[in-house]
Amino acid sequence: MSEKALQGKRIVLCVTGSIAAYKAVSLLRTLVEEGAEVSVAMTSSATQFVAPLTFEVLSGRPVLQRLFADSPPLPHLRATEEADLILVAPATANCLAKCALGLADDLVSTLFVATRCPIVMAPAMDGDMWDQPALAAHTQTLRERGIMVLEPEEGPLASGLVGKGRLPAEHVIMEAVRSRLALRRDWSGQRVLVSAGPTREPIDAVRFITNASSGKMGYAIADAAAQRGADVWLVSGPTALPPPANVTRVSVLTADEMAHALDARFAWATVLVMTAAVGDFRPRYPSSAKVKKHEWTGEPLALERTPDILQSLSGKRTHQVLVGFAAESEDLLANGRKKLQQKNLDVLVINKITGAQSAFGNESNEAILFPRHGTPMPLERMPKRLLADRILDTIKEHCLSSPPSRVQQPPEGIRRIR
Ligand code: CTP
Repeated sequence: MSEKALQGKRIVLCVTGSIAAYKAVSLLRTLVEEGAEVSVAMTSSATQFVAPLTFEVLSGRPVLQRLFADSPPLPHLRATEEADLILVAPATANCLAKCALGLADDLVSTLFVATRCPIVMAPAMDGDMWDQPALAAHTQTLRERGIMVLEPEEGPLASGLVGKGRLPAEHVIMEAVRSRLALRRDWSGQRVLVSAGPTREPIDAVRFITNASSGKMGYAIADAAAQRGADVWLVSGPTALPPPANVTRVSVLTADEMAHALDARFAWATVLVMTAAVGDFRPRYPSSAKVKKHEWTGEPLALERTPDILQSLSGKRTHQVLVGFAAESEDLLANGRKKLQQKNLDVLVINKITGAQSAFGNESNEAILFPRHGTPMPLERMPKRLLADRILDTIKEHCLSSPPSRVQQPPEGIRRIR
């Protein structure tokens, strides 16, 4: 019999007080079916929704509920010593806040403080709660510390409203668990240059041309590569995103600035992941002043092409692995194949950018991975952070067979600002 995906992995499943606690029952079954040894810990609010006995029977272990229990004594220490992963599903707003602040006033919150193992949190709450600025700040803090906080899903909520707050689908949580457990420092020694976000081309002092890219995919790749041990520089167009932990970010606006920033670091890199949605056109005669509307002739909108950064770096490559992203609205494979060849890439990630499920702006994405020496692999829709790991897996499998060359210093005159 082939080994199950989570065979021998010890997982602590923390269930907190949301109506979605009933979904943790099915999640527990799936974890156990995949071979995991699961201990369940519940907050007292969670026990209002589902009886601990349900989890006890399905896990085959007593449910951890009290900080000061007789058996085992100090359960938070025993559970965290042995765990490979803590999964919190559902994670309430209160649970996220306590974890971000390091509060430890019950068994579940004390597990977070006591543990050194990876933590995955699957939030569930009402849409208005998820949108609270305080919660957004806590989520950001947790992510900066390397805790994987999944995005809740949109749909009908227990309040009767429709919004973003539903527990992520079980397959998304399972993918996150597998990805976190497989977390290795398998990119250590690699020097990864990632571009992300849109570019912005001025028309005059206050107006500009840009596109709908949010930068989320590139930031997810930078985050994943850094967590897997790579040294990462992120050249970012204008976005609202905070820099991922342990990544050096360089902010740029125009395609020319992005080309210059990438060019300066290209010799240093072993892998370039060109996620940025570089604008293809810019105003030929931008005005440095604000053009008055009665003076408007339309001339500032005469357009010219920007440099194709990836094409130009491809011509200069010595040892670098080159990964491109294709934004396509139709004939995805045929157009992707052309780009792979024209830009002489090692891997191309093809995105569909039209319709409600466009790769632009969304939290999740449905991409096709196209390695130069392999067959195109269409992937199911998944959060961008998980897709980032799949992209790194593909690059590693197809392009990183030999260890990287001796670590080089960043080029002269470039200062690291963390
Ligand atoms: N790219 C680039 N410089 C540009 C345009 C695109 O480096 N001026 C890079 C993108 O970052 C991406 C890849 O080239 O990795 C493909 O970009 P895409 O927008 O899909 O295609 P284009 O090359 O712009 O071609 P087309 O507009 O014909 O689809």
